[in-house]
Amino acid sequence: MKRDFLKIKDLTEEEIYKIFDLTKYFKNLRKYKKITEHLKNFTFGLLFSKPSTRTRISFEIAIYELGGHSLYLPSETTQISRGESIKDTAKVISRYLDGIIIRTYSQEELEEFAKYADIPVINALTDLYHPVQILCDLFTIYEKKGSLENLKITYIGDGNNVCNSLIEGCDLLQIEIRISCPSEYMPDEKVLKNIKNKNLLKISENPEDFVEDADIIYTDTWVSMGDEKERERRLKVFQKYQINNKLLKKAKKDFLFMHCLPAHRGEEVTDEIIDGPNSIVFDQAENRLHCQKALLVFLFQNS
Ligand code: CP
Ligand code: NVA
Repeated sequence: MKRDFLKIKDLTEEEIYKIFDLTKYFKNLRKYKKITEHLKNFTFGLLFSKPSTRTRISFEIAIYELGGHSLYLPSETTQISRGESIKDTAKVISRYLDGIIIRTYSQEELEEFAKYADIPVINALTDLYHPVQILCDLFTIYEKKGSLENLKITYIGDGNNVCNSLIEGCDLLQIEIRISCPSEYMPDEKVLKNIKNKNLLKISENPEDFVEDADIIYTDTWVSMGDEKERERRLKVFQKYQINNKLLKKAKKDFLFMHCLPAHRGEEVTDEIIDGPNSIVFDQAENRLHCQKALLVFLFQNS
Protein backbone atom coordinates (compact mmCIF):
# COMPACT_ATOMS: atom_id res chain seq x y z
CA MET A 1 0.00 0.00 0.00
CA LYS A 2 1.24 3.50 -0.77
CA ARG A 3 2.49 5.55 2.19
CA ASP A 4 1.50 9.21 2.33
CA PHE A 5 3.03 11.74 4.71
CA LEU A 6 0.29 14.29 5.36
CA LYS A 7 0.91 14.84 9.07
CA ILE A 8 3.53 13.84 11.63
CA LYS A 9 1.31 11.15 13.08
CA ASP A 10 1.34 9.28 9.74
CA LEU A 11 4.61 7.86 11.09
CA THR A 12 5.12 5.83 14.25
CA GLU A 13 7.73 6.60 16.87
CA GLU A 14 9.76 3.60 15.73
CA GLU A 15 9.60 4.73 12.10
CA ILE A 16 10.79 8.21 13.03
CA TYR A 17 13.89 6.75 14.67
CA LYS A 18 14.49 4.60 11.55
CA ILE A 19 14.31 7.79 9.48
CA PHE A 20 16.79 9.46 11.85
CA ASP A 21 19.26 6.59 11.31
CA LEU A 22 18.87 6.92 7.56
CA THR A 23 19.32 10.70 7.87
CA LYS A 24 22.68 10.20 9.58
CA TYR A 25 23.67 7.83 6.78
CA PHE A 26 22.75 10.29 4.02
CA LYS A 27 24.33 13.23 5.84
CA ASN A 28 27.62 11.37 6.05
CA LEU A 29 27.42 10.12 2.46
CA ARG A 30 27.04 13.65 1.11
CA LYS A 31 30.60 14.42 2.21
CA TYR A 32 31.73 12.13 -0.62
CA LYS A 33 29.53 13.78 -3.25
CA LYS A 34 27.92 10.42 -4.04
CA ILE A 35 24.74 10.14 -6.11
CA THR A 36 22.88 6.97 -5.17
CA GLU A 37 20.30 4.89 -7.04
CA HIS A 38 17.64 4.74 -4.31
CA LEU A 39 15.11 6.56 -6.50
CA LYS A 40 16.52 5.61 -9.91
CA ASN A 41 13.85 5.85 -12.63
CA PHE A 42 11.43 7.58 -10.23
CA THR A 43 9.92 10.96 -11.11
CA PHE A 44 8.39 13.30 -8.53
CA GLY A 45 6.22 16.36 -8.96
CA LEU A 46 6.43 19.38 -6.66
CA LEU A 47 2.99 20.97 -6.90
CA PHE A 48 3.29 24.30 -5.06
CA SER A 49 0.62 26.98 -4.54
CA LYS A 50 2.79 29.07 -2.20
CA PRO A 51 6.39 30.34 -2.47
CA SER A 52 9.30 28.31 -1.10
CA THR A 53 13.07 28.48 -0.84
CA ARG A 54 14.14 25.66 1.49
CA THR A 55 11.45 23.07 0.84
CA ARG A 56 11.57 23.26 -2.91
CA ILE A 57 15.35 23.36 -3.22
CA SER A 58 16.03 20.69 -0.61
CA PHE A 59 13.47 18.28 -2.11
CA GLU A 60 14.73 18.84 -5.65
CA ILE A 61 18.36 18.25 -4.63
CA ALA A 62 17.38 15.28 -2.45
CA ILE A 63 15.59 13.61 -5.37
CA TYR A 64 18.47 14.34 -7.75
CA GLU A 65 21.08 12.97 -5.32
CA LEU A 66 19.00 9.81 -4.86
CA GLY A 67 19.08 9.21 -8.61
CA GLY A 68 15.52 10.40 -9.31
CA HIS A 69 14.03 13.22 -11.33
CA SER A 70 11.76 16.08 -10.22
CA LEU A 71 9.36 18.47 -11.90
CA TYR A 72 8.52 21.80 -10.27
CA LEU A 73 4.83 22.48 -10.88
CA PRO A 74 3.66 25.92 -9.68
CA SER A 75 -0.08 25.30 -9.37
CA GLU A 76 -0.93 28.53 -11.22
CA THR A 77 0.63 27.02 -14.36
CA THR A 78 -1.57 23.93 -14.18
CA GLN A 79 -5.24 23.49 -15.05
CA ILE A 80 -6.01 23.51 -11.31
CA SER A 81 -5.86 27.30 -11.62
CA ARG A 82 -8.69 27.09 -14.19
CA GLY A 83 -10.88 24.88 -12.06
CA GLU A 84 -9.86 21.29 -12.90
CA SER A 85 -10.93 19.19 -9.93
CA ILE A 86 -8.54 17.83 -7.35
CA LYS A 87 -9.89 14.35 -7.97
CA ASP A 88 -9.21 14.44 -11.73
CA THR A 89 -5.81 16.06 -11.26
CA ALA A 90 -4.79 13.44 -8.69
CA LYS A 91 -5.91 10.59 -10.97
CA VAL A 92 -4.10 12.02 -14.00
CA ILE A 93 -0.80 12.78 -12.32
CA SER A 94 -0.80 9.26 -10.82
CA ARG A 95 -0.46 7.97 -14.40
CA TYR A 96 2.72 9.99 -14.92
CA LEU A 97 4.53 10.44 -11.62
CA ASP A 98 5.83 8.12 -8.89
CA GLY A 99 5.24 10.58 -6.03
CA ILE A 100 3.97 14.09 -5.43
CA ILE A 101 5.04 16.75 -2.94
CA ILE A 102 2.37 19.37 -2.37
CA ARG A 103 2.42 22.83 -0.77
CA THR A 104 -1.02 24.37 -0.55
CA TYR A 105 -3.52 26.16 1.69
CA SER A 106 -6.12 23.66 2.81
CA GLN A 107 -5.24 20.43 4.62
CA GLU A 108 -8.64 19.01 3.53
CA GLU A 109 -7.75 19.57 -0.13
CA LEU A 110 -4.40 17.88 0.40
CA GLU A 111 -6.18 14.92 1.98
CA GLU A 112 -8.63 14.78 -0.90
CA PHE A 113 -5.70 14.74 -3.32
CA ALA A 114 -4.12 11.87 -1.39
CA LYS A 115 -7.40 9.96 -1.40
CA TYR A 116 -7.62 9.96 -5.21
CA ALA A 117 -3.90 9.66 -5.99
CA ASP A 118 -2.45 6.18 -6.44
CA ILE A 119 1.03 7.49 -5.61
CA PRO A 120 2.51 8.66 -2.28
CA VAL A 121 1.68 12.26 -1.38
CA ILE A 122 3.94 14.36 0.87
CA ASN A 123 2.71 17.48 2.67
CA ALA A 124 5.20 20.29 2.01
CA LEU A 125 3.10 22.73 4.14
CA THR A 126 -0.57 23.56 4.48
CA ASP A 127 -2.26 26.18 6.65
CA LEU A 128 -2.69 23.50 9.32
CA TYR A 129 0.58 21.56 9.27
CA HIS A 130 4.25 21.60 8.25
CA PRO A 131 5.21 17.99 9.03
CA VAL A 132 8.43 17.64 6.99
CA GLN A 133 9.75 20.73 8.76
CA ILE A 134 9.09 19.26 12.17
CA LEU A 135 10.36 15.78 11.29
CA CYS A 136 13.65 17.37 10.19
CA ASP A 137 13.73 19.68 13.23
CA LEU A 138 13.28 16.78 15.63
CA PHE A 139 16.26 15.16 13.92
CA THR A 140 18.28 18.36 14.43
CA ILE A 141 17.44 18.38 18.14
CA TYR A 142 18.30 14.67 18.40
CA GLU A 143 21.62 15.31 16.64
CA LYS A 144 22.53 18.31 18.82
CA LYS A 145 21.40 16.86 22.15
CA GLY A 146 22.20 13.19 21.50
CA SER A 147 18.72 12.11 22.66
CA LEU A 148 15.17 13.40 22.81
CA GLU A 149 14.69 12.30 26.40
CA ASN A 150 14.20 14.74 29.29
CA LEU A 151 14.04 17.79 27.05
CA LYS A 152 11.79 20.81 27.39
CA ILE A 153 10.81 22.57 24.19
CA THR A 154 9.26 26.05 24.33
CA TYR A 155 7.47 27.58 21.35
CA ILE A 156 6.69 31.30 21.56
CA GLY A 157 4.59 33.14 18.98
CA ASP A 158 1.83 32.24 16.54
CA GLY A 159 -0.02 28.93 17.07
CA ASN A 160 0.36 28.19 13.35
CA ASN A 161 1.11 25.23 11.05
CA VAL A 162 4.68 24.83 12.38
CA CYS A 163 3.42 25.00 15.96
CA ASN A 164 0.65 22.44 15.30
CA SER A 165 3.10 19.94 13.80
CA LEU A 166 5.59 20.58 16.61
CA ILE A 167 2.89 19.78 19.18
CA GLU A 168 2.00 16.55 17.36
CA GLY A 169 5.66 15.57 16.93
CA CYS A 170 6.37 16.10 20.63
CA ASP A 171 3.25 14.13 21.55
CA LEU A 172 4.32 11.22 19.35
CA LEU A 173 7.83 11.14 20.82
CA GLN A 174 6.77 12.01 24.39
CA ILE A 175 8.70 15.27 24.61
CA GLU A 176 7.63 18.05 26.98
CA ILE A 177 6.28 20.97 24.94
CA ARG A 178 5.22 24.37 26.25
CA ILE A 179 3.46 26.93 24.07
CA SER A 180 3.14 30.69 24.64
CA CYS A 181 0.69 32.37 22.27
CA PRO A 182 -1.77 35.28 22.41
CA SER A 183 -5.27 33.98 23.20
CA GLU A 184 -6.62 34.63 19.70
CA TYR A 185 -3.70 32.88 17.98
CA MET A 186 -3.59 29.61 19.90
CA PRO A 187 -2.78 26.30 18.15
CA ASP A 188 -5.55 24.41 16.35
CA GLU A 189 -8.27 23.18 18.72
CA LYS A 190 -8.52 19.70 17.17
CA VAL A 191 -4.76 19.26 17.39
CA LEU A 192 -4.88 20.11 21.10
CA LYS A 193 -7.89 17.87 21.70
CA ASN A 194 -6.21 14.85 20.16
CA ILE A 195 -3.01 15.05 22.20
CA LYS A 196 -2.36 11.76 24.03
CA ASN A 197 0.28 12.92 26.53
CA LYS A 198 -1.69 15.82 27.97
CA ASN A 199 0.67 16.00 30.97
CA LEU A 200 3.55 16.93 28.62
CA LEU A 201 1.76 19.91 27.05
CA LYS A 202 1.49 23.30 28.77
CA ILE A 203 -0.05 26.44 27.29
CA SER A 204 0.15 30.05 28.43
CA GLU A 205 -0.48 33.52 27.09
CA ASN A 206 2.57 34.84 28.92
CA PRO A 207 5.75 34.68 26.80
CA GLU A 208 7.95 34.63 29.93
CA ASP A 209 6.40 31.54 31.50
CA PHE A 210 8.44 28.83 29.78
CA VAL A 211 11.77 30.51 29.09
CA GLU A 212 13.76 29.70 32.22
CA ASP A 213 14.29 25.96 31.94
CA ALA A 214 13.84 25.52 28.17
CA ASP A 215 16.35 23.40 26.26
CA ILE A 216 14.93 24.60 22.94
CA ILE A 217 13.27 27.94 22.21
CA TYR A 218 11.43 27.91 18.88
CA THR A 219 9.58 30.63 17.04
CA ASP A 220 8.15 31.29 13.59
CA THR A 221 6.79 34.23 11.65
CA TRP A 222 3.80 36.14 12.99
CA VAL A 223 2.41 36.47 9.45
CA SER A 224 2.24 33.15 7.65
CA MET A 225 1.62 32.81 3.92
CA GLY A 226 -2.06 33.59 3.49
CA ASP A 227 -2.26 35.84 6.61
CA GLU A 228 -0.95 38.97 4.88
CA LYS A 229 -4.26 40.83 5.16
CA GLU A 230 -3.98 40.67 8.98
CA ARG A 231 -0.38 41.85 9.02
CA GLU A 232 -0.83 45.18 10.85
CA ARG A 233 -3.05 43.71 13.51
CA ARG A 234 -0.78 40.74 14.07
CA LEU A 235 2.34 42.88 14.45
CA LYS A 236 0.63 44.70 17.31
CA VAL A 237 -0.76 41.63 19.09
CA PHE A 238 2.51 39.70 18.90
CA GLN A 239 4.88 42.49 19.94
CA LYS A 240 5.58 41.14 23.43
CA TYR A 241 6.30 37.67 22.00
CA GLN A 242 9.44 38.84 20.19
CA ILE A 243 12.45 36.61 20.92
CA ASN A 244 15.11 39.04 22.10
CA ASN A 245 17.78 39.24 24.80
CA LYS A 246 15.37 40.84 27.25
CA LEU A 247 12.76 38.08 26.97
CA LEU A 248 15.46 35.40 27.18
CA LYS A 249 17.46 36.93 30.03
CA LYS A 250 16.61 34.03 32.34
CA ALA A 251 17.14 31.32 29.69
CA LYS A 252 19.64 28.49 30.26
CA LYS A 253 23.15 29.21 28.98
CA ASP A 254 23.01 26.32 26.54
CA PHE A 255 19.45 26.69 25.21
CA LEU A 256 19.14 26.24 21.44
CA PHE A 257 17.26 28.76 19.33
CA MET A 258 15.30 27.36 16.39
CA HIS A 259 13.27 28.92 13.58
CA CYS A 260 12.01 27.16 10.47
CA LEU A 261 12.88 30.26 8.37
CA PRO A 262 12.24 32.53 6.58
CA ALA A 263 12.77 34.85 9.57
CA HIS A 264 11.40 38.34 9.75
CA ARG A 265 14.27 39.93 11.62
CA GLY A 266 13.11 42.68 13.94
CA GLU A 267 9.64 41.12 14.15
CA GLU A 268 9.46 37.65 15.78
CA VAL A 269 13.24 37.57 16.46
CA THR A 270 16.09 40.04 16.76
CA ASP A 271 19.48 39.76 15.02
CA GLU A 272 21.24 39.31 18.37
CA ILE A 273 19.36 36.03 18.90
CA ILE A 274 19.22 34.58 15.40
CA ASP A 275 22.89 35.41 14.78
CA GLY A 276 23.92 34.61 18.37
CA PRO A 277 25.83 31.60 19.74
CA ASN A 278 22.67 29.65 20.72
CA SER A 279 21.10 29.78 17.28
CA ILE A 280 21.06 26.60 15.16
CA VAL A 281 18.79 27.87 12.40
CA PHE A 282 21.19 27.17 9.53
CA ASP A 283 21.98 23.63 10.72
CA GLN A 284 18.24 23.20 10.93
CA ALA A 285 17.86 24.39 7.31
CA GLU A 286 20.67 22.10 6.12
CA ASN A 287 19.14 19.06 7.78
CA ARG A 288 16.00 19.49 5.66
CA LEU A 289 18.01 18.02 2.80
CA HIS A 290 19.42 15.00 4.64
CA CYS A 291 16.23 14.16 6.51
CA GLN A 292 13.95 14.51 3.47
CA LYS A 293 16.20 12.08 1.59
CA ALA A 294 15.64 9.63 4.43
CA LEU A 295 11.88 10.29 4.39
CA LEU A 296 11.65 9.71 0.62
CA VAL A 297 13.61 6.47 0.77
CA PHE A 298 11.59 5.29 3.78
CA LEU A 299 8.21 6.03 2.13
CA PHE A 300 9.19 4.42 -1.15
CA GLN A 301 10.68 1.32 0.44
CA ASN A 302 7.45 0.92 2.40
CA SER A 303 4.96 1.72 -0.41
N1 CP B 1 10.95 26.43 6.26
C1 CP B 1 10.42 26.38 5.03
O1 CP B 1 9.55 25.55 4.72
O2 CP B 1 10.94 27.28 4.16
P1 CP B 1 10.44 27.60 2.70
O3 CP B 1 9.13 28.29 2.78
O4 CP B 1 11.52 28.47 2.11
O5 CP B 1 10.31 26.30 1.94
N1 NVA C 1 4.29 29.47 9.18
C1 NVA C 1 4.99 29.83 7.97
C2 NVA C 1 6.04 28.80 7.66
C3 NVA C 1 6.88 29.10 6.45
C4 NVA C 1 7.87 28.02 6.17
C5 NVA C 1 4.00 29.95 6.83
O1 NVA C 1 3.08 29.13 6.73
O2 NVA C 1 4.14 30.88 6.04
